[in-house]
Amino acid sequence: MDIGIIGSGNIGGTSARLLAAVGHRVLISNSRGPETLVDQATELGPDVSAVTAEEAARRGEVVLVAIPFGRYRDLPAAPLDGKIVIDATNYYPDRDGTVAELEDGSTTSSEMVAAHLAGARVVKAFNTIYYVRLGEGGRPSGDPERLALPIVGDDEEAKRIVAGLIDDMGFDAVDHGGLAQGAAQQPGTPVYATDLTAAQLRERLGAG
Ligand SMILES: NC(=O)c1ccc[n+]([C@@H]2O[C@H](COP(=O)([O-])OP(=O)(O)OC[C@H]3O[C@@H](n4cnc5c(N)ncnc54)[C@H](OP(=O)(O)O)[C@@H]3O)[C@@H](O)[C@H]2O)c1
Repeated sequence: MDIGIIGSGNIGGTSARLLAAVGHRVLISNSRGPETLVDQATELGPDVSAVTAEEAARRGEVVLVAIPFGRYRDLPAAPLDGKIVIDATNYYPDRDGTVAELEDGSTTSSEMVAAHLAGARVVKAFNTIYYVRLGEGGRPSGDPERLALPIVGDDEEAKRIVAGLIDDMGFDAVDHGGLAQGAAQQPGTPVYATDLTAAQLRERLGAG
């Protein structure tokens, strides 16, 4: 697949490496422009190109968003209309500024991203795993110690495709329902930044 990545730091850069390693074409981008990502793209190999965020959004069949949550309004909504967008961001008030509706629990960070990206098929995934673990912790399908990542979203097909990418990267995906259920995988929850197999993750999510 052609996979756009907006935000090519710890999570975006690690994902780019893993996705390129299994044969996807990856378009990495940041806020400063592709010229600042040429070395990173070269190092990651011939299947990784440095582009603008707009181009990553336009050309990616799936687009991973891995920027500080507080910058989500910068995401280009028009080219992401109809696209599968993976939201890996987390809300950290110290970094992102205090957001009243997140503090009072009336919505979730991924629902806010989805509201900005009207028309995008947003799946919340990768937000729970430390990037070093993502980079080094992958295991083959069926390995009893394989780690699992929770995903939520309102579009079933989008979730299936994202689950396939997670599998490609060496992890199981556990579907925990619609986007609003993302509250159960935000920072501070029992599944956040914790190594769990699929069975353990389901148990903690209360999903059976
Ligand atoms: N670190 C982790 O282990 C981890 C794990 C799970 C989830 N997360 C979440 O994932 C997100 C990224 O974390 P990270 O640790 O990967 O951050 P990071 O290493 O600081 O990288 C952030 C990336 O986002 C880019 N960026 C910032 N603002 C942007 C904008 N407006 N448009 C396009 N690109 C922009 C930055 O590029 P410039 O330098 O050019 O601005 C940089 O490439 C955060 O929301 C974080 O909470 C992190």
